[in-house]
Amino acid sequence: MWGGRFSGQVSEVMQQINASIGVDRRLFAQDIACSLAHAEMLVAQGVISGEDGSAIVEGLRQVKDEIESGSFEFRTDLEDIHMNIEARVKDLIGSAAGRMHTARSRNDQVVTDFKLWVRDAIDESIVQLTALQLALVEQAERHAAAVMPGFTHLQTAQPVTFGHHCLAYVEMFERDKGRFADARVRLNECPLGAAALAGTSFPIDRNQTSSALGFDRPTSNSLDSVSDRDFAMEALSAASVTAVHLSRLAEEIVIWMSAPFGFVELTDEFTTGSSIMPQKRNPDAAELIRAKTGKIFGAQTSLQTVMKGLPLAYSKDMQEDKEQTFVAFDALSLSLLAMAGMVRDLNIIKEKMASAAAEGFSTATDLADWCVKALDIPFRDAHKVAGGAVSLAEKKGKGLAELTLEELQTVEPGITAQVFDVLSVENSVASRSSFGGTAPDNVRAQVKKWKEKLNS
Ligand code: ARG
Repeated sequence: MWGGRFSGQVSEVMQQINASIGVDRRLFAQDIACSLAHAEMLVAQGVISGEDGSAIVEGLRQVKDEIESGSFEFRTDLEDIHMNIEARVKDLIGSAAGRMHTARSRNDQVVTDFKLWVRDAIDESIVQLTALQLALVEQAERHAAAVMPGFTHLQTAQPVTFGHHCLAYVEMFERDKGRFADARVRLNECPLGAAALAGTSFPIDRNQTSSALGFDRPTSNSLDSVSDRDFAMEALSAASVTAVHLSRLAEEIVIWMSAPFGFVELTDEFTTGSSIMPQKRNPDAAELIRAKTGKIFGAQTSLQTVMKGLPLAYSKDMQEDKEQTFVAFDALSLSLLAMAGMVRDLNIIKEKMASAAAEGFSTATDLADWCVKALDIPFRDAHKVAGGAVSLAEKKGKGLAELTLEELQTVEPGITAQVFDVLSVENSVASRSSFGGTAPDNVRAQVKKWKEKLNS
């Protein structure tokens, strides 16, 4: 491809370190789309003849068929996907193939291809996140009133509803979608036509190629165009936040499935057994989602490290941008699919959750709040009363709701039988009806809102 100056052969190890075809062959469809758009524009601008243009388009279509059908031979000596495709078009149509590289360079070509790939990955992530949200909303609807212990420090804090817990993740995944959507807006400018780094003297129409490829507009600075990999960093950072959220949910499923908790079950579809312990049923998918986070964080760190300190414009370092990005989005996509499947498969053991919700004096705050409202004492004093009641219940080996009125009155003589209305976990969650609170009615209202939003 640069035969004019070179006469010797590259060494085998040079070929090995230099070639990217093993990785960037995945960009074949994007690369062909860019070349088609570019060739059509060159014809429209009178830079190449209509005849050559048609031959190029024909050749590119045939190469696409060959790659899709598996008959295409990818050659490492041709370095990358761009040169593999161009060389094959040359085999098919002869020297006119060489005209499609007029007014462009592999530098603007590769970044355009990669942007198209990342844009698809963003769009797919948003679709998959929505499917996961819908699975969570369905669980929330089914279990709007199912009580479970709410934790802080993984210590029983206050009862909450399982529906509310599911909807917490729906909120997180909505923000994740927002991050992807924001990244997409900034990504969506077309670098094609920036050429090697300085633009071109040919009368190209960058608006035409930009809109043919679904971009909002062409990029405005040729140096920036070929140097920019922010779009991938941004997509990976959105993916990293999503991975954090996925791993937290995965961890909760692992905890909930452990025997001491026993809050949830998964069917054979989403569990595996042990080759030695016949009783085991393991939440492997959840554990693997938790672990795949490493690949996603790793890709982000890797790309930032590749890019840091690079002078403008293109450097070959940038060829190392794609591999980890592919790995990360493969991991994210599989994790999102598996998580949605697992959430749909999740069966909750209501009795187990409810009895755990009542343990650990989880309604102590309700007792304190009752004292504030019924006895008009300051919250700090009410906190002491409730603390005293917890200590008494602990001594007697009872739950708070099992203390007798007389026993409660030894702590605070003003307490009346009405207090028992707030000491059950059901009443506790029902009373938390402030906006954003865990009350079943709130959960139902939020479920309705999410269903409308996600299905629209
Ligand atoms: N395979 C290269 C990459 O992925 C394409 C661009 C090569 N450009 C160059 N000037 N050598 O970055």
